[in-house]
Amino acid sequence: MPTRVYIDGVITDENDAKISVFDRGFLYGDSVYEVTRTFSGKPFALEEHLVRLEKSAHGIGMELPARASIRQAVLDTLAAAANPESYVRIVVTRGAGEIGLDPALADRPRLVIIVRPTTGPERRQIEDGVEIAIVSVRRNLRSAIDPNVKSGNYLNSVLAIGEARRRGAYEALMCDADGRLAEGSSSNIFAVRAGLVKTPALAVGILDGITRRKVFELAAANGIATAEAELRPDDLYGADEAFLTSSVRGVLPVVRVSGRPIGDGRPGPLTRRIQTLYDELTRKP
Ligand code: PDD
Repeated sequence: MPTRVYIDGVITDENDAKISVFDRGFLYGDSVYEVTRTFSGKPFALEEHLVRLEKSAHGIGMELPARASIRQAVLDTLAAAANPESYVRIVVTRGAGEIGLDPALADRPRLVIIVRPTTGPERRQIEDGVEIAIVSVRRNLRSAIDPNVKSGNYLNSVLAIGEARRRGAYEALMCDADGRLAEGSSSNIFAVRAGLVKTPALAVGILDGITRRKVFELAAANGIATAEAELRPDDLYGADEAFLTSSVRGVLPVVRVSGRPIGDGRPGPLTRRIQTLYDELTRKP
């Protein structure tokens, strides 16, 4: 099953997918990106991802190619790959130019789309849940690098997941500078207590996750109570259930946090229900 890469209007295989070492995405992480996946061959929630890409670009004062041209490039790259299901990464860098931090040195934005066969979580992780670790790395301050801008500057998350993996955990969970739970290295976190599904508010400084939004919508439509709330590590340790969300993983049960079992150490009933509702949503034509 092939990987296909679109760079500036040309679709190649992975060996020919090359970009300048003077590109600011490479030099400084000066880029924005989105990740989605296909269901039945169609990119899930593509419009929402394209809108968020525009918000991210706006957040760092970067120009984007027109939405219609990005959408078409995604569809063309998917068609060229012709995988049963694909992972889709849309990257726009500020461009290349003289070495120097000044954004004005960038020539023009570069659009890159990477399509590969999907690599979701393993069956075992979907069914039995995963362990996450609350790491010492703090989430970037909103006033420094706003986590709600999905930029290519992911060193914060790279350091967080590195620490989690060294501790044997599948995903890292970061707190903000005040010790409030924020988000995973590439996921949002939810905790269930006494039938109420809670998740950190956007104001903490997290990505406005598209799967997170879908969970709110599905819960509202199915009589499940949700709330954005200030959560601390103890709230999670004392939760009945927990799960994380992301476009690639969907809804994934969390059964241990930093070595402690959540609830009875198995995926809880509300988690299962939301997981099923989300699966059904992704199967809708
Ligand atoms: N990451 N928080 C962070 C820091 C993320 O990088 C992501 C997604 C999420 C979840 O957002 P969404 O539900 O819109 O995918 C939360 C993608 C999947 C990635 O970088 O691979």
